[in-house]
Amino acid sequence: MDKFLINGPQKVAGKVSISGAKNAVLPIMASTIIQPAEYTIRNVPILRDTLTMIKMLELSGAIVDFKSNILRVDTRECSNYVAPYELVKTMRASFYMLGPFLSRFGKAVVSLPGGCAWGPRPVDYHIKAFEKMGATINLDGGNINAQGPLIGSEINFEQVSVGATGNVVMGAVKAKGETIILNPSLEPEIEDLCNFLKAMGAKISGLGTKQLIINGVSKMKSKVDYTIIPDRIEAGTFMMAAAISGGELELNGVNPSHLSIIINKLEESGTIIDYIDNSTLKVVSTGKIHPVDMVTAPYPGFPTDLQAQWMALMSLSDGVCTIIDEIYKDRFTHISELIRLGAKIKLNDNIATVYGVSRLTAAPVMSTDIRASASLIIACLSATGISEISRIYHIDRGYEKIEEKLNSLNIKIERIAK
Ligand code: EPZ
Repeated sequence: MDKFLINGPQKVAGKVSISGAKNAVLPIMASTIIQPAEYTIRNVPILRDTLTMIKMLELSGAIVDFKSNILRVDTRECSNYVAPYELVKTMRASFYMLGPFLSRFGKAVVSLPGGCAWGPRPVDYHIKAFEKMGATINLDGGNINAQGPLIGSEINFEQVSVGATGNVVMGAVKAKGETIILNPSLEPEIEDLCNFLKAMGAKISGLGTKQLIINGVSKMKSKVDYTIIPDRIEAGTFMMAAAISGGELELNGVNPSHLSIIINKLEESGTIIDYIDNSTLKVVSTGKIHPVDMVTAPYPGFPTDLQAQWMALMSLSDGVCTIIDEIYKDRFTHISELIRLGAKIKLNDNIATVYGVSRLTAAPVMSTDIRASASLIIACLSATGISEISRIYHIDRGYEKIEEKLNSLNIKIERIAK
């Protein structure tokens, strides 16, 4: 398995272009199944996960061409409504096929996704919502067997769920009648999915509010051309890399309005953030990292996908702070690895107390998931000596050309293929 070698400490310096948002493009790719049409989707990142989703679409019968970040998908001949375990187990987002299969074919066989590195990842909200919309769903051999048709209904999520909101919206766009989703995800990635569906001809209102209304349509467009929003999680990761390493970084192709909580927290911790224009930010470390408490929350709160990266930064703060993950209460597998680098962190339930240290020292560490890998890269930038990060296939799932981007920022990072 590949590993990274990083000889720290190193300072991030220069300009980076942020790629398209992984968590927007995955449901958007799935939604091309809903309507037989020809789709051109731009700003698509080359990731292990987007390549897996391409396999999923081709399995359903789509013709897919992916060159220089432009994805062309022709779903006019799709006929297969099965998302098999061998694909779903490598990427939970394959579960996004449930809504589109039900919309297109009126039935679906989708493998139950397993858990992940940090614990169970249930899909009960998705299932309950589709049952409310009239689907009959049973579990057979690890597969969800779903039978439509779907009827517009009122869906009230007890907890904000990005995936369940996306799946239900994709199931509702051609369902008979009106679907009202209360307490939907407000994440920019779900807003991007809704905007893509509207570009397809869907009737969706209430975007950005706690009441999403979808009126089922029978006719949708046969050609769609769409550009994906920038990845705020990738942007936040690079911002924290600049902050921890005492560096200076210009980020191009970002949407600053998706990053306000990150900007506020970084400024509070002593980093300078300048708005250059509406798609460019500049991050300048002052050399200081003050402790700042953080609690994860659905958008516009602090994203759980940046929790591990924030913890890496706070490990070198000049004080003590707490980091609480209210979305995934056990998303802390990165703590033991950060401790191997010399961090001082105590975990009690879902509350981590981080006692800032003056320096980290290199060690062999192991990635456990996409974002934990990112937090280890951030920490190793500042650890003194040669660190080795194993199982880096995780990082390739969610960060496009990570070494190239870091090398262009004056960071020497070496991938050792094992
Ligand atoms: C999406 O996962 C993202 N993945 C995750 O990013 C992200 O961490 C998560 O949203 C939270 O923001 C994609 O978009 C592909 P949820 P998702 O449904 O949709 C509970 C990354 O690194 N829940 O919003 O699976 C769940 O346990 C990945 O890019 C249920 O109980 O997350 C959690 O506590 C990791 N039942 C909370 O809701 C359900 O049916 C939020 O989960 C669904 C969710």
